[in-house]
Amino acid sequence: MELKPNIYYKTILQYREAELLFEALKLDIFSYLDEPTTLEEFLKSTNYDKENTKYFLSALLSCGYIEKNNLTYCNTKCSKLYLSKNSSKYIGKAILFREKLGSISNIGDKVKDNSLVQHDKLDFLELAEIVHDEMYVTGRVDDFNREIKQLFSDKYRNYKVLDLGGGSGVLSIEFIRNFPNSTAYVFETPEVACISKKIIEKNDMQDRIFVLEGDFNVDVIGDGYDLIIASGIFNFVNMDITKFICKLSDALVLNGYLLIIGSFFENEEYHKEHMLNWLKGYINGMKPAPKKSELKQSMQKANLSLKKRIKVGLFEGELRRKGW
Ligand SMILES: C[S@@+](CC[C@H](N)C(=O)[O-])C[C@H]1O[C@@H](n2cnc3c(N)ncnc32)[C@H](O)[C@@H]1O
Repeated sequence: MELKPNIYYKTILQYREAELLFEALKLDIFSYLDEPTTLEEFLKSTNYDKENTKYFLSALLSCGYIEKNNLTYCNTKCSKLYLSKNSSKYIGKAILFREKLGSISNIGDKVKDNSLVQHDKLDFLELAEIVHDEMYVTGRVDDFNREIKQLFSDKYRNYKVLDLGGGSGVLSIEFIRNFPNSTAYVFETPEVACISKKIIEKNDMQDRIFVLEGDFNVDVIGDGYDLIIASGIFNFVNMDITKFICKLSDALVLNGYLLIIGSFFENEEYHKEHMLNWLKGYINGMKPAPKKSELKQSMQKANLSLKKRIKVGLFEGELRRKGW
């Protein structure tokens, strides 16, 4: 069969389409197109340049982000829901942040010589703030709530929960919403702890959710927990994985639960989505998460039995229980 280079040109187009989306979000185009709007009406609201706006809207139309009917432009249902700032499910800011978070432009410099260039580090502070709304919109919160309601039956009991590297603290906040007499602890680095506290206070839960500042690799994490959440943190565990899992197990009560959320693989060949999103992190020194088989072995040694595998929003997870 004759080989053709078409896939490379397709990739360029996908890249352009992504660039178009980012520019449209920066221009906040979608917030003006919730209702059918003529070019003149759009220009009156935005004061943008007529000719160039017309081309730009044509490009958005060609990609299916907006629709056109006679002389009016309008968001598609999906764009109206997620890309217009008038929607409670707006995630435009999160999309722009994620683009920046994982951007690999010029990363080649660091591939050639690791010592030459200092690339910007992962900004966990901004991530914690941005991820807050995203967790609700992408279904993570709904999935989490469904699982905890199945695990814990007594709405009025005081369960004790630990959210390791909890960032925004959303999962702790949701736990307390479901079990209002419970107590939650968000364990975070001092750098991010201020954001966790801010979000907890905004939700008026500072008397039920406490922020513990430290490094989970070396510091004491407390004990007597009914549930420990370890979501998206395994790339930052720099101690022996079995010792770390045993540390979590020791902190649980017997029959307590460990909820793990993250990407774990069998071998070195990580899948495309993971590699594209985290290449920048790895090149800047982030460690790979443990392999599935390593994790399984560590769980066995730590007396944590698999209860079930779960899906949490866009992520994979598993629930373990202390004891067999
Ligand atoms: C990828 S984010 C995950 C945040 C949140 N758990 C979630 O699932 O959305 C990793 C979090 O772990 C925190 N973290 C990383 N290393 C840590 C450490 N050694 N001790 C405590 N927290 C840490 C970061 O500050 C960040 O908030």
